[in-house]
Amino acid sequence: MSRKRKKKKISVIFLFILFFILIGGFILMIMNNNKKKTVENKANIKEEEVTKEMEKAPDNSSSYDSLPDGEYVTSKGFILKKENGISYVDGNMIVNKTYSLPKTFVPINPYNGDSTSPWCINCIDKDVMEAFKIMQSDAKSLGLNIYISSGYRGYDRQVTLYNNYVDRDGVEAADRYSARAGHSEHQSGLCFDLNSIDDSFTNTNEGKWVNNNAHLYGFIIRFPKGLEDETGYQYESWHLRYVGKELATKLYNDGNWLSLEGYYGLSSVY
Ligand code: DAL
Ligand code: ZN
Repeated sequence: MSRKRKKKKISVIFLFILFFILIGGFILMIMNNNKKKTVENKANIKEEEVTKEMEKAPDNSSSYDSLPDGEYVTSKGFILKKENGISYVDGNMIVNKTYSLPKTFVPINPYNGDSTSPWCINCIDKDVMEAFKIMQSDAKSLGLNIYISSGYRGYDRQVTLYNNYVDRDGVEAADRYSARAGHSEHQSGLCFDLNSIDDSFTNTNEGKWVNNNAHLYGFIIRFPKGLEDETGYQYESWHLRYVGKELATKLYNDGNWLSLEGYYGLSSVY
């Protein structure tokens, strides 16, 4: 073989090898990419499975009571935690027509009193009473007199109250303004009624001041005007619930009160 032909043959072999190296590299790159995609897909599937596992928060109370403790997603995407039969969203206890309290529940950290007694103003939660006292003192400095007329109410007390209202007005009417036992926020120790406990409070100087300032102390108008479809109850200008300043200010909504149910995406139905 001549030298020239030998050189040509070596060049062809070299080109072949280079070609196979390039093809090999390309195939390896594609395989690697596919592997990456599979891992990513697996991660996505896992996330989907977790979301599917978390049941939706129910929209009626009978189905909720039968649900086990656990975590549920509300219609607004908040996590509802049910622990020992008590429901919380963002650490805030939820008590309404859908979400009840166990019969035996009494305030965990009462201000000053024996919360086994069924009607005890001082048995409301300590932090709630302290926030109220600051609000009361600020109101007083403006010449306003606010006082708690009904604080904690035990399960048995609520049975009597609700039954009396039903005897007087019938179930349908009573359910619009009085909670059935186990469904009253008063059992939680986190709320109270102020002054006259009726519509006459709304347009008093005290009622107007409370409506515009309660959020600064961490309180909300729990059953705002026009939101009975969300809360399950008629407007109650006198019923305040403690949720802390941050959430209270959000719900105050520059004077156009939102409901806890509307904000969190929860139902309140029997
Ligand atoms: N008045 C409110 C709804 C209650 O009875 O707890
Ligand atoms: Zn009340």
